[in-house]
Amino acid sequence: TAQIQPIQKVVVFNAIAVGGLKASLLQFPLDFKFGAATAAYQVEGAWNVSDKSINIWDHYTHKHRDLVFDRSDGDVACDSYHQWQRDIEMAEELGLDFYRFSISWTRLMPTALSTVVSEDGQEYYNRLIDGLLAKGIQPVVTLYHWDVPQRLQDLGGWANPLIVDWFAAYARVVFTLYGDRVKTWITINEPLIVCDGAYNGIVAPDFHDAEVGVYLCNKNVLLAHAKAWRIYDEEFRPKYKGQISLSNHLIWYEPASKADKDLAALAMEHCAGRYSHPIFSKEGGWPPSLEKFIGEKSIKEGYRRSRLPPFTNEEIELVRGTYDFYGVNHYTSKLVRKPKPGESVSGWPMSGSDELGVVLDTRPEWESTTSWWFKANPKGFRKLLVWLKEQYGDIKFLVTENGYPSRGSNLEDTNRVRFYKDYLTQMLLAMKKDNVNVIGYTAWSLMDNFEWKDGYLNKFGLYEVNFTDPMRPRTPRSSAAFYANLIKTRSLDT
Ligand code: NOJ
Repeated sequence: TAQIQPIQKVVVFNAIAVGGLKASLLQFPLDFKFGAATAAYQVEGAWNVSDKSINIWDHYTHKHRDLVFDRSDGDVACDSYHQWQRDIEMAEELGLDFYRFSISWTRLMPTALSTVVSEDGQEYYNRLIDGLLAKGIQPVVTLYHWDVPQRLQDLGGWANPLIVDWFAAYARVVFTLYGDRVKTWITINEPLIVCDGAYNGIVAPDFHDAEVGVYLCNKNVLLAHAKAWRIYDEEFRPKYKGQISLSNHLIWYEPASKADKDLAALAMEHCAGRYSHPIFSKEGGWPPSLEKFIGEKSIKEGYRRSRLPPFTNEEIELVRGTYDFYGVNHYTSKLVRKPKPGESVSGWPMSGSDELGVVLDTRPEWESTTSWWFKANPKGFRKLLVWLKEQYGDIKFLVTENGYPSRGSNLEDTNRVRFYKDYLTQMLLAMKKDNVNVIGYTAWSLMDNFEWKDGYLNKFGLYEVNFTDPMRPRTPRSSAAFYANLIKTRSLDT
């Protein structure tokens, strides 16, 4: 297998990002943890081996090929189901403190409605977890990374309140099987995409109900997370002493001018607050400003009550405080402004442009990437972390994803190295100048993989994967060498 190239040859530093910063500022605390991430559907392949049943991504990529730009699927993906030893080896080459991966619900519990466990599924994750631990790498495990069992989708999926208990039963099985060895858990990855993405037709199951479906899903996802957290807290934590939270997709919304400040604040509540306030705020429940906004708008539209489903007092208490840290997935920023007279609302439906009646723009200096949804604005990362601390207090933050897309084959990925350096610098500033308690950082992704709607067009890997070779060989990029060096030195100043 290919080894990581010597550091000197490949690392490209961005003088601007580090210019003027003291070496001590660029040093990470000694107990800071570095990891890299993947997700089951994006890497595993083996979609129909053994008794595995199908999930919404198996179903939608096969039945609605147009959902994915290159009409591809995750049938084989990186073939991690068979290549898991190589994955562990890569994690070791990088010197990762932890590897974040997800469990495929339908691989582990094919019936999804009974708690019958697949022996093959169970063994696959046992091998992966034990293999990592044998190398001193901690497994960080996501229970749900977008692959709801198709059987449950046929019963309404995340819009059906029964999924709260279906998910809780699945979570209990996972904690029972792996809780002795897994000490850091993520219940649900990016509820924003699970709900807003799905009900705006951006990801499977490709629904279109941004008015109501989105918010029913939103509430159920929060309740499901909360139940899983409480099951862990009450039944497993006393024995296993782990930590558990969820990972939110967080966009930094910047006001275009002073006049747009309130609108940008509302956009933050729509994207981040809706999935955070109920869990992380002292009082719980929906963010008040957003609850008021959607409530009044719903009545004007002729609905009998707010489209945002209310929480009962019991539900508020069930959800409130169900975290041990805050999982931050961060990539991009948006500029928020009121539409000019005659201008129509635009931007990204997922970020509430239609709901809030805003134009979502970007600043010219934010660098374009090969992804349609993504402009790089490193300073937004620091502002986001400060916002989170201001909103939810001095809690622990674990960055569970951050990374950069590229197209084609590019082992010398100088742009990605610069991206990591710039974003990590801003994260360090948030830690050192603004006292935000960030405890770890996760690069997305360990390797190129199936990038949902973008299929195999956009790649995020520290390792490049050759998808035309049946063995799916992985080769380290320059960014892998950069990251390995960073982990070794714990400093950006090398
Ligand atoms: C967030 C998601 O969690 C992950 O699955 C995806 O590949 C990356 N962002 C990049 O878009």
